[in-house]
Amino acid sequence: MKEKIAALNAEILAFIPINSEQLEAFRIQYLGKKGRIQDLFADFKNLAPELRKETGVLLNDLKNNAQHKLDEYKDSFQSTTTEKAATDLSMPADFLTLGSRHPLSVMRNEIISIFSRIGFVVSEGPEIEDDWHNFSALNFPPEHPARDMQDTFFIEKSADKGDIALRTHTSSVQVRMMENNKPPIRAIFPGRVFRNEAISARAHCIFHQVEGLYIDKNVSFADLKQTLLYFAKEMFGENTSIRLRPSYFPFTEPSAEMDISCSICGGKGCNICKYTGWVEILGCGMVDPNVLDNCGIDSKAYTGFAFGMGIERITMLRYGIRDLRLFFENDVRFLKQFEGAL
Ligand code: DAH
Repeated sequence: MKEKIAALNAEILAFIPINSEQLEAFRIQYLGKKGRIQDLFADFKNLAPELRKETGVLLNDLKNNAQHKLDEYKDSFQSTTTEKAATDLSMPADFLTLGSRHPLSVMRNEIISIFSRIGFVVSEGPEIEDDWHNFSALNFPPEHPARDMQDTFFIEKSADKGDIALRTHTSSVQVRMMENNKPPIRAIFPGRVFRNEAISARAHCIFHQVEGLYIDKNVSFADLKQTLLYFAKEMFGENTSIRLRPSYFPFTEPSAEMDISCSICGGKGCNICKYTGWVEILGCGMVDPNVLDNCGIDSKAYTGFAFGMGIERITMLRYGIRDLRLFFENDVRFLKQFEGAL
């Protein structure tokens, strides 16, 4: 019995498997229920009692050696298989899921690009603004309703230093531009604006505007009209026409609102243009001489025009989006539709 154990022990210690199949065959041969070690345990029962103690120890050692061999190589085969998989250069790579630009950014970039082609530069101003830049310099009378608490998010109310508020429009950046630069000035100002409005499909308390300003000698209303016609055609297509309706803004005189022929129905009438064939896209006008003087520009020597548009509105018209809240919900199913847009 002792010799048999020693012989098996030698076999087991010498065994070196080269793959997991060989190792499995080893397990069955030595450690299986009908394996060779199990046979020895069966013989052990017939052994004389005085030999049992010593032989039992040898038999247990034999079984442990076989089990160790199995454990040792089982781990090494597993790790080489995964290593091989990880370094297999022929495996297809994981696809990178790229994000996409937000539709409002796409449109802002496009508006910037359209105006930069005719010489407008881009400038930005602060979102937290003082009363002077948001209202007073822009010729808002002290009791004008736009200053009212209902529209404006005030941060600080102060009679002597002036109120501080979240800007309600990007027209505030006009003022900063004129205060800090000499004409000719030709610039657009994109940015976020804030108004205390209930959120609905057509209104939000945070939205985006692009303001435009052109100041030089002899700038006329005809220049304004031609610039905006160029913009409308670049943005909505060559067949787009524009219509200017008289309006009122404290900072422009005369003032107008501009409609474009409905880009959805081509002017035939649909529920987007409320069956008029026209949709309003911006406010504009000739910069009021008071505003020029407030900002340190001689209104006797210079004239200029300004305009302001909502980026949400332009984007909704361009892509046929019906609900403004989609822009702020960040639902990837909505955002993914703009993949690839610049
Ligand atoms: N600031 C105006 C608004 O938020 C838009 C606007 C109208 C801007 C006429 C202008 C302008 O520059 O001339 O509704």
